[in-house]
Amino acid sequence: MIIGITRELVAGENRVSLCPDNVQSLVDKGLELWVEQNAGAQAGFSDDDYTSVGAKVVSDRDELFAKSDVILQVQSFGSNTENADDDLKRLKAKQLVIGMMDPLAQPQAAQQVAGTGATAIALEMVPRISRAQSMDVLSSMATLAGYRAVLLGAEAAPRILPMLMTAAGTLQPARVLIMGVGVAGLQACATAKRLGAVVEAYDVRPAAREQIISVGATPVELDLPTESSEGAGGYAKKQSEEFLRMQREQMTEVVARQDIIITTAAIPGAKSPILVTEDMLKAMKAGSVLVDLAAERGGNCESTQMGKTVVAHGVTIVGPENLASDVAFHASQMYGNNIQTLLELILEEGQINLDFEDEIVAGTVIAHAGEVPHPYMRKLLDLPSLENQSQGK
Ligand code: NAI
Repeated sequence: MIIGITRELVAGENRVSLCPDNVQSLVDKGLELWVEQNAGAQAGFSDDDYTSVGAKVVSDRDELFAKSDVILQVQSFGSNTENADDDLKRLKAKQLVIGMMDPLAQPQAAQQVAGTGATAIALEMVPRISRAQSMDVLSSMATLAGYRAVLLGAEAAPRILPMLMTAAGTLQPARVLIMGVGVAGLQACATAKRLGAVVEAYDVRPAAREQIISVGATPVELDLPTESSEGAGGYAKKQSEEFLRMQREQMTEVVARQDIIITTAAIPGAKSPILVTEDMLKAMKAGSVLVDLAAERGGNCESTQMGKTVVAHGVTIVGPENLASDVAFHASQMYGNNIQTLLELILEEGQINLDFEDEIVAGTVIAHAGEVPHPYMRKLLDLPSLENQSQGK
């Protein structure tokens, strides 16, 4: 069986889906690995690094798709909205493609892949269960994004983060606020703390309080009804407009005393809630910075512009895209380990065996045998449930 690693096509995407160490492990298991020329170059892995662990480097993408039983990508169908059309034509029946596919926002991509007869595994759909933690690319990438967000904030601020007592006087530490303390937010708390800032953090889920304290940050306490704010899988539920209005009102004072704010609040499959309004920006000090990690999903700040840094009411607002790609070496290492673990789950005696009784398989396969088998994806696509179809309803 041949596993093919493609070169990423999306502009600014520096990651690669498998690193040489992962390749080595799979080659040791008797699998054949093909890598498209320069696939790892932006992440710090040369073609020689791959050949030295037993992979074959190929320059012809058509050949790679034609010969591979499994195609591994970072930004795959759905996630790559720029230039995946040619790859769609390259897919063949029974081929398995694994990658990030942004399935909740781009469900039609699952239908397109299904139309080719290929099988698609969308890594964003890995369920949040302990057994699947080592395959969870969203958590891996969020960790790196949280780290990077603090560095971006520090770069854009006209001050340093730690307290310094020098002969030229004492410099006060920066005040950093993290809004939304999931995986990215928690890493942002820890990173800002390590850099010497005074860190406060807020999350709508009461369970986050303990985690905030565990990394040395101070939880912001608001008088809001948050008991039922956590939904399935530990994700936050969508909050009502009235709740968000009250939250913003109480947060204005907290926001105003910060030098750097990092917002990370996301609701799966929905537009990000607005946590910082124009009025709140007006209350902030000139020269403060807001890094909006939710920029790709509409942003947590009213003035965020995706992919841009803008200044509004004296506050610098950074709206980064694909932050994990900035640290492509480590991002690829984590992504590669996530994919390798998943491959090991679905490989049996050197062949792919998809056991749909396994909730990881059932939860991640979004195209198979000409159909979109995933019930939630079918709902998003307005397709009748497969059960009803088979019963002729
Ligand atoms: P996320 O990326 O979905 O959202 C970021 C954070 O924003 C969340 O903590 C959410 O509660 C918060 N948020 C949403 N609306 C907000 C609002 N109006 N105000 C303030 N905060 C708001 O979150 P992520 O990183 O997916 O983590 C959510 C939880 O799930 C965490 O406790 C995390 O540890 C847990 N988790 C568990 C996994 C597992 O069991 N395998 C894997 C990944 C995360």
